[in-house]
Amino acid sequence: MGNPPTRSIPGAAVTDTGTVTAQDMPTAGRTGEGSPLMRTAGARARRLTRPALAVAAGIALYLAFPPVGLWPLAPVAVAAITLLVRGMPLARSAGLGMLFGLAFMLSMLRFVIFVGVDGWVVLSVGEAALLALVAPATTLVTRVRGWPLWVAAVWVGQEALRGRAPFGGFPWGKLAFSQGDTPLTPLAALGGSPLVTAAVAGCGALLAAAVLALGPLGTSMVAARRVQAGRRATTAPFGLLLLRGLRPPGARADDRRAPFGLLGAAVAVALLGLAVPLPSAAQVGTAQVAAVQGNVPRSGGLDALGRMFQVTANHVAATERLGADVTAGRTPRPNLVLWPENASDVDPFADARAAAMLDRAARAVGAPILVGAVLDGPGRGKVRNAGLGWDADGWTGQIYVKQHPVPFAEYLPGRTVLEKLVKRFATEMPNDFVHGNGVGTVTIGGVTIGDVICFEVAYDGLVRDAVNTGARLLVVQTNNASFGRKGESEQQLAMTRLRAVEHGRAAVQVSTSGQSAIIAPDGRIVAESGLYETAVLTASLPLRTSRTLADRVGVAPEMLLVILGLLAVAFGLRAGQPSRGQGGPDGDTDTADDADAAGDTDTAGDTERRRVDDERVLVCVPTYNERESLHNTVMRLRAANPDVDLLIIDDASPDGTGEIADGIAAADPRVHVLHRDAKNGLGAAYVAGFDWGLRHGYDVLVEMDADGSHQPEELPRLLAALRDADLVIGSRWVTGGEVRNWPRSRLLLSRGANVYVRAVLGMPLADATAGFRAYRAPVLQSRDLGQVASQGYCFQVDLTWQAWRSGFRILEVPITFVEREHGRSKMNRAIVTEALWRVTWWALTTRHGRPAAPGERHRLASADTGYVPAARADGADHSDRSTTGVSP
Ligand code: GDD
Ligand code: MN
Repeated sequence: MGNPPTRSIPGAAVTDTGTVTAQDMPTAGRTGEGSPLMRTAGARARRLTRPALAVAAGIALYLAFPPVGLWPLAPVAVAAITLLVRGMPLARSAGLGMLFGLAFMLSMLRFVIFVGVDGWVVLSVGEAALLALVAPATTLVTRVRGWPLWVAAVWVGQEALRGRAPFGGFPWGKLAFSQGDTPLTPLAALGGSPLVTAAVAGCGALLAAAVLALGPLGTSMVAARRVQAGRRATTAPFGLLLLRGLRPPGARADDRRAPFGLLGAAVAVALLGLAVPLPSAAQVGTAQVAAVQGNVPRSGGLDALGRMFQVTANHVAATERLGADVTAGRTPRPNLVLWPENASDVDPFADARAAAMLDRAARAVGAPILVGAVLDGPGRGKVRNAGLGWDADGWTGQIYVKQHPVPFAEYLPGRTVLEKLVKRFATEMPNDFVHGNGVGTVTIGGVTIGDVICFEVAYDGLVRDAVNTGARLLVVQTNNASFGRKGESEQQLAMTRLRAVEHGRAAVQVSTSGQSAIIAPDGRIVAESGLYETAVLTASLPLRTSRTLADRVGVAPEMLLVILGLLAVAFGLRAGQPSRGQGGPDGDTDTADDADAAGDTDTAGDTERRRVDDERVLVCVPTYNERESLHNTVMRLRAANPDVDLLIIDDASPDGTGEIADGIAAADPRVHVLHRDAKNGLGAAYVAGFDWGLRHGYDVLVEMDADGSHQPEELPRLLAALRDADLVIGSRWVTGGEVRNWPRSRLLLSRGANVYVRAVLGMPLADATAGFRAYRAPVLQSRDLGQVASQGYCFQVDLTWQAWRSGFRILEVPITFVEREHGRSKMNRAIVTEALWRVTWWALTTRHGRPAAPGERHRLASADTGYVPAARADGADHSDRSTTGVSP
């Protein structure tokens, strides 16, 4: 491949809607600040308003959660903080994040005040500091292409950290927990609470992008008007327009649909969950369940022994009333009765009076009870927070010990030091709850339940482990007596509902003082009680055994998002501060930069345009086990394109395709065969073919499948379009394009892949993965093909992306793709995985939405400003088809 990159490609890069130069949209004009004076005033105003807005965003986030529960405010708050910190210096961003976090945490954790104002403040400040990390992270990742996705990832990362550290973490206030009963809730069944958080944050980031895209709206309209005179109308379908906006805002100001597209994408994300099925039918029968909320005495101090027995007595009394109802036939006999956490504050193993009370209750109701009890030991100064199986004969032998007692409330980390510092600890918290080390599965009345004690419901892994170990029903035993009416109980209920959906299990939240509730596997509330009242809830609940996708994939989606978030942060750091113009820290100078980059194309002339018809065309057809298809494909190709040559690249197909190819080549001098030793992937086969073609002096190299999916009769249209382009893609997803006989899964994969490519690479193409395409030789010569690492089908995206970034013009021509009738597709999981990580990697490692710097471009001196759609230019048989073109 000795040829140097050529500069003689016909035509040049023009922007989608024409040329926008920097002069057309001075920074001041775009930001609405007429004069330097006004700009200074505006900047000062912003300096004052940003902190206030950060606080407001934190409060908005609080309002998204129960008890207020205005859930759409969650993405709005994310959008707000994203907009506030984008483009900020990192320290300022962190400060804004802290204000945001403090406003949120202080409101959210009001219920902690009962331990003392100091405890509330310390916890809130600590959690806010961790939450605040999301702000500088957002600042960094918004420098990277495809940033709404990375914003979602850094939120997940922040929560992953906050849910684990320090002291085992405190996941209260995860975005997912604001979505206990919303269109987003069902996503939990796919990827757990991290996926819900990602969707909330992603939705918010898209909103932010939409707002940013509104900025250049005015100028983009001007730009659009300028090109209306005889240029072109965009023919991309609506779905594409929707995704057009998924480029970094400000990357280019030539698309007035961007804000609406982004808004549409945000709405689409918010509604994604509605497509997730939530099966809730019984799989192994049903269980009649009774949840007893015995209530607490109003004046109960934590240390009053009288209160301890009083709470137990309340639960006994309520259970006896239930027993009476059962005896009288007013209520079916339960299979199991559920009592809340701490229903017995006295260890029934150590205290005969406590044990006798439990015996009496179980006898009265005629069913085993799951009792929440505080147990003494092991050892002095240690206690356990446990769920016990209890029937009329005493303990059933089943026990679950809370695995995650709450630091500073149930145990004191660093007790020796802290007791000296805070005297209150020694008197008010003399004992430490130990950490249980068994999974929360307990069998009561023949039903294996997943026992979750109080705050444990906030930890993904604890609940998931119980389900994966056989829980058919979830029980959240809790004691909210101390928290008053400050929302804690409602917040917890939202989590329990999310868990029901996440794991596809019926769930019961049973509380001493409320709120208790019975929840169906799809998250519906079947029965619920109020706060500080006595209540017995009963229901027949489906027992389920199947595991949701979330159960199966476990921590994987969270870890994947964390890794993406970290990578994005790293690349954001590497990208450094975005270059700045006079706009100051808030100035969106990217727009000007890009417009500038695109602005030098307005010179006329098409002197060097050559006719494709005079050029030597080589069609490269890779084959692997295509014996049934190859002959027919070759014959059709030769018939429809008598002047083009053909190169079959066979990877030693075991089925003898190579020999068939040799046979055809022997009889037809225009057919050549390249034999390779082993199946090395589509990308490698094409690289070998292109190399051969370039060495043999071909001007145009075509990719085509052997299996009949690509219609050789459509090749003339592709070649004709090459007059106005350097790369022509036969597209299935532009208007007029079509796919026949593909299974739904394959359609989804292709569309999804293109949506993803478009979202993260910002390349405005409908079908970047397509495998029917024609390159002008310089496109391939501009790159060292030996260096192309893509092996599988992402080779297609790879070459398109590089061509686009290098400034080559790309056109999409609609084609009809017909799924093969013989043989098998070589598509497999490895190919999809390779494509996914490579595309993600390219997105992360490429700065901003801008194509290569002008100096690196293969842009031509003889620029062609008048865009002529190939369909019209050619005037031939395809005039009914539209052609969509892009250039960088
Ligand atoms: N030599 C060689 N080596 N040929 C291969 C290999 C390989 O490792 N893998 C596939 N091929 C050949 C096949 O024999 C066929 O001629 C062509 O490449 C396409 O392979 P298919 O397996 O039929 O691909 P597909 O139909 O699933 O995928 C099509 O659409 C994708 C986008 O949705 C192709 O056009 C892909 O290139 C395209 O990315
Ligand atoms: Mn195929």
